[in-house]
Amino acid sequence: MVPVHAACALLSLAPLLVLGVPPIWTQPEQVHLSYPGKCLNLLPLPHVFSFRDTFPPPLLCNANQYPGHMTLGFFFTGVPGSMVVTWTTFNKTESKVEYGLLGGRLFEMSAKGDATLFVDWGEEKRKMFIHRVSLTGLKPAASYAYHCGSDVGWSDVFFFTALNDSTSFSPRFALYGDLGNENPQSLARLQKETQLGMYDVILHIGDFAYDMHEDNARIGDEFMRQIQSIAAYVPYMTCPGNHEATYNFSNYRNRFSMPGNTESLWYSWNLGSAHIISLSTEVYFYLEFGLELLFKQYEWLRKDLEEANKPENRAVRPWIITMGHRPMYCSDDDQDDCTTFDSKVCKRQNPIPPGLEDLFYRYGVDLELWAHEHTYERLWPVYSDKVCNGSKEQPYVNPKAPVHIITGSAGCRERTDRFNPNPKDWSAFRSTDYGYTRMQVVNASHLYLEQVSDDEYGKVIDSIWVVKDKHGFSAWF
Ligand SMILES: [Fe+2]
Repeated sequence: MVPVHAACALLSLAPLLVLGVPPIWTQPEQVHLSYPGKCLNLLPLPHVFSFRDTFPPPLLCNANQYPGHMTLGFFFTGVPGSMVVTWTTFNKTESKVEYGLLGGRLFEMSAKGDATLFVDWGEEKRKMFIHRVSLTGLKPAASYAYHCGSDVGWSDVFFFTALNDSTSFSPRFALYGDLGNENPQSLARLQKETQLGMYDVILHIGDFAYDMHEDNARIGDEFMRQIQSIAAYVPYMTCPGNHEATYNFSNYRNRFSMPGNTESLWYSWNLGSAHIISLSTEVYFYLEFGLELLFKQYEWLRKDLEEANKPENRAVRPWIITMGHRPMYCSDDDQDDCTTFDSKVCKRQNPIPPGLEDLFYRYGVDLELWAHEHTYERLWPVYSDKVCNGSKEQPYVNPKAPVHIITGSAGCRERTDRFNPNPKDWSAFRSTDYGYTRMQVVNASHLYLEQVSDDEYGKVIDSIWVVKDKHGFSAWF
């Protein structure tokens, strides 16, 4: 017989025993969507990465489940009727998505994918499985309900709209950089607006979580859980920033599933009348991970821009929009690269290794989206440090150079930055409010941008229409 005091002791432990039940390691979490890419078989390169065979271990994607993903150096576009679902479990499970048309029978279709093991490079060497399932054959522009996981654990039910592949579609974007796990001030507003259906896609222009690798990558987990309420509903398209650099960008490379075969470092895709290019400015700053990455990206950019500028392509996707983390220009009062004349990302004067300003100008890039500075800044059309307005009265009507927007104030633990009190002539509008940018590519000639201040409860504090009768290099003259 158990003595009374022993029984009491056991009973007092009961709550602890309940709390001690381990979490369900087969439960999907950190669910997010992205557009996949389609291989157009243009530019075979023998070996994209210098670090593939070195440290840390590379992500190995399953070519069958992730179209085009293992094919090197090719040109990718959005694939009508497809979507990639990515999520995490801490035990190995199957990778399944069950889905159906919204309003129809739930889960009447299913698709299988594969999981890759990601071992974080921190002290604990934490392991997680990143699952990827590519849904294909979706009805363009139709809405679907889905959940993901396996028979030993399912996610909540989410919904999304399949890629509308019409070139007359007018997609609506939210875009920002520098959103952290701590002080993510704009997140609640972005979540609500996304769930209200205000956006077709989100662009996160580098610097996630602050930082994903910290606390043995638990900060990365927590951040990916935080953005699930956006990213499980609309494609969450990304590029890397400096806060992803630890362990050779491995948290970034493993957790996201962007088009192409570059582990989400650089790629392009199409939506409506826009060709959108995502790139890594970090190849200019972390040369220890391979100077050849800089040249490989540059060569890929050149080929991609050349292809996008073929008359038959530019006729249907006239807008070329780039996104990269560190700006070419900015007027903040820190000592960042963009505050210097002829920054590393620009690099006009001593073009070895080659910078991007001349390349983008030559191929008629219309709009360049940046972050990194924890502020919002809109530039007048600018090339080679000179203002190139369309006209005095209408600077953004037929501009004579690319338009630059810097939007890195979504919210993070580093707070906002300060501006230099004496900006150069190309600085058109500046704000240190927390916030983010909205963009709509309305049609072949009209593109709208506006800046939302979260500090001012969602007030639009800046807006412009970029209007172009002509695109491409010849439009500058
Ligand atoms: Fe940054």
